[in-house]
Amino acid sequence: MIKRPRGTRDFVPEEMAFRKIILNKLTNTGEKYGYSEIKMPTFERLELFTKRSGEDIMGQLYHFSDKGGRELALRPELTASTMRFYVSSMQNRPKPLKLYYFDNCFRYERPQKGRYREFWQFGVEMIGCSTELAVAEMPVLANDMIKSAGLEKYEIKIGYLEIINNILKKTELQEIDMGAAMILIDKANIDGVEEFLYEKNCDPKLISDILKLTMMGEEGENSSVLDQLLELAETHGDIKGPLERFRNILKGMELLGLKRYTIEPGIVRGLDYYTGLVFEVECKDLGAQKQICGGGEYSLIPLFGGRETATAGFALGFDRLQEALIQEGRSYSINGTDIFLIPVSQNEIGFVAAMTSELRNMGLKADMELRGRNISKALKYANAIGTKFACIIGENEVNEGKVTVKDMRSGEQIAMGSAQLGSYLLEQE
Ligand code: HAM
Repeated sequence: MIKRPRGTRDFVPEEMAFRKIILNKLTNTGEKYGYSEIKMPTFERLELFTKRSGEDIMGQLYHFSDKGGRELALRPELTASTMRFYVSSMQNRPKPLKLYYFDNCFRYERPQKGRYREFWQFGVEMIGCSTELAVAEMPVLANDMIKSAGLEKYEIKIGYLEIINNILKKTELQEIDMGAAMILIDKANIDGVEEFLYEKNCDPKLISDILKLTMMGEEGENSSVLDQLLELAETHGDIKGPLERFRNILKGMELLGLKRYTIEPGIVRGLDYYTGLVFEVECKDLGAQKQICGGGEYSLIPLFGGRETATAGFALGFDRLQEALIQEGRSYSINGTDIFLIPVSQNEIGFVAAMTSELRNMGLKADMELRGRNISKALKYANAIGTKFACIIGENEVNEGKVTVKDMRSGEQIAMGSAQLGSYLLEQE
């Protein structure tokens, strides 16, 4: 037996049926907000991912050189691909350009529950609009999508990167140390942040303000977090502007109907292309890998040679969302066939085949006994595949143009002319 590669999964039909239901809900919600689907290749030139993040990201990438010696990588996410695609072919489209995608991503990570080497993202990117209301649409839409999928227990955490960034910049840390500090802040590793900044001889007052920001909001009310930020802006004049914009984005979110969120200025996101608003959605019941969505404003287009344009977006971790829904008791549903036709003998096979085809042409999910099993075995199979109705066809049925349909749930038998079968089935829910 050949084993599946580590960190990958197979999906049985029931699971695929469930995933399809979730996907439909996300798609419908995205389209309601005016987003259109795009598709990009599974592998890209390696530099697409290393250009912004440097060689550090290589450890997380599945990369290889092909037979022509080109350096390629399986995509770890789709934002960079979307920006490449935009720069090459969509720059002249009307703005804002609203795009969404659903695809698999690959990261060479240590697999564990909720963390895979191949996983799926449902993502959204908005290009060419930086108004506060446009940016507010990101967490609003993420919330709407998660809600539409049926999830009830989750938390939305909102931050604004420029606030913490502006204060951190004053420490005059080198870029590499700034990155290291951001990683510690992102993990809310308070002791780690403190130790690191003292080690780098940063000003104790700045360290204290950075620690305050890192911890802010985890417990408190949003209004008190905003008060604390305003207070901080008294000493750090350069966060006044970002704070003002942040507050307007929050107002926009409320206008668009999102009221349930917490402000956490310590949210900085792991990927290093973010700029202003950043947010994450967590589902605590998932344990260690509880983040089901992440996003914000970012900048990549100029790096890829395009004209400077505002960009914001987010991606839902589809597999984690599915897991969270299962944990909340949403069940799989098997989408069985509408009707299963069983010929009594070899003589009726032709008739049944033609009838099955006719029912399919009418838009019904119809199937027939293909293995030549006897009636009781065929009925057992029909039951196992979750068909709604079964119909046994023998010599009399063929000659008289009549059929008896069995409702597999109630066991009720209904007789009708064979010409009426299709319309009868279409009337059933
Ligand atoms: P990200 O936070 O790296 O952001 O990934 C988005 C979501 O993908 C995460 O919140 C998580 O649910 C899911 N995810 C990430 N890694 C794994 C994994 N190994 N296994 C299962 N699920 C995983 C991005 O990728 C950005 N491109 C989002 C974005 C779009 N920002 C702006 N536009």
